[in-house]
Amino acid sequence: VQLTPKDFSDLLEFSKSLAKSAGEVIRSGSKAILQDGAVDEKKNSVDLVTEWDVKVENLVKGEISKTYPDFKFIGEESYSSGDRPTLSDDPTFCVDPIDGTTNFVHGFPFACISIGFIYKRQPTIGVIYNPFLDQLYYALKGHGAFLEVPGYSNPLRLPISKARPLESLSQALLGVEWGSDRRASVIQKKANSFVRLAGDSKEVLGGKMVHSLRSMGSAALNYSTVAQGGLDSYWEIGCWPWDVCAGIVIALEAGCYVTGSKQYFLAHRDEEPLDLVDWDELLWGRKYIVIRAIADTATEKGRDTQRRLVEDFYNTVE
Ligand code: IPD
Ligand code: CA
Ligand code: CA
Ligand code: CA
Repeated sequence: VQLTPKDFSDLLEFSKSLAKSAGEVIRSGSKAILQDGAVDEKKNSVDLVTEWDVKVENLVKGEISKTYPDFKFIGEESYSSGDRPTLSDDPTFCVDPIDGTTNFVHGFPFACISIGFIYKRQPTIGVIYNPFLDQLYYALKGHGAFLEVPGYSNPLRLPISKARPLESLSQALLGVEWGSDRRASVIQKKANSFVRLAGDSKEVLGGKMVHSLRSMGSAALNYSTVAQGGLDSYWEIGCWPWDVCAGIVIALEAGCYVTGSKQYFLAHRDEEPLDLVDWDELLWGRKYIVIRAIADTATEKGRDTQRRLVEDFYNTVE
């Protein structure tokens, strides 16, 4: 399928308005769930799902199939119920109906709908909407990333804060997540990584400490917050494509560096731009680092800094 620039701007507008209507449903669901919430568990007692996750996904899936009947759909709840398309060359929507279900269940106002669109295997459109804060993040590949937020009549171009040049992880405010894999061995490893980052251990970061760690409870909102400039970086193991697809587009368009483990080694070895590396691996590889723009990535020094930050990560975590 060959899509034109007009098709892409229509797809972006469609996704934005779909995200807004899905957001309305999430917001009304929140009231209901906080009053008498029926919450189910998926793989364990911290992997939560509600009727609203399914309702929102059905709404989004239905609207997409009305407007774009030939396009494929990957969504968390469809996937959970056995509908598991693989990534192909077909235009594909990749949707997380509620990212941050744990927050949603607790009334912690960081949850969102995340709508990604993949064209020729590349994440191409990303829309992330947090209905509690009425914040709409969006990007179309090649056209920048934006935030619509109450109080501003025009969309804000991301990043909205000036890039403090991030020379070392020790200057960073980092997004990290506990995830839902709570096997003792796994969670201990994560906790160790967090301690190494936050503490003054002499073995890592030359004895320096990151400014602090934050857990927002939504992969998509971690991505958009790095893109915005509110976090310097986000690291997680264990995401799914619907957690990150939209976020990848928004972060890249805001000038961030996005990498999975294999990506990094590929890029490191061959100096390939991210565009040439393996998106299947990035989407399904489930291991991510997003780092906000380094002030001068165009220069050799800037690229060295970026490479060192990623190396520091891999030396510090896991
Ligand atoms: C989860 C959230 C969480 C992240 C997990 C995701 P869900 O998604 O994004 O922050 O740590 O990896 O699975 O289940 O709320 O859609
Ligand atoms: Ca989930
Ligand atoms: Ca998710
Ligand atoms: Ca979800």
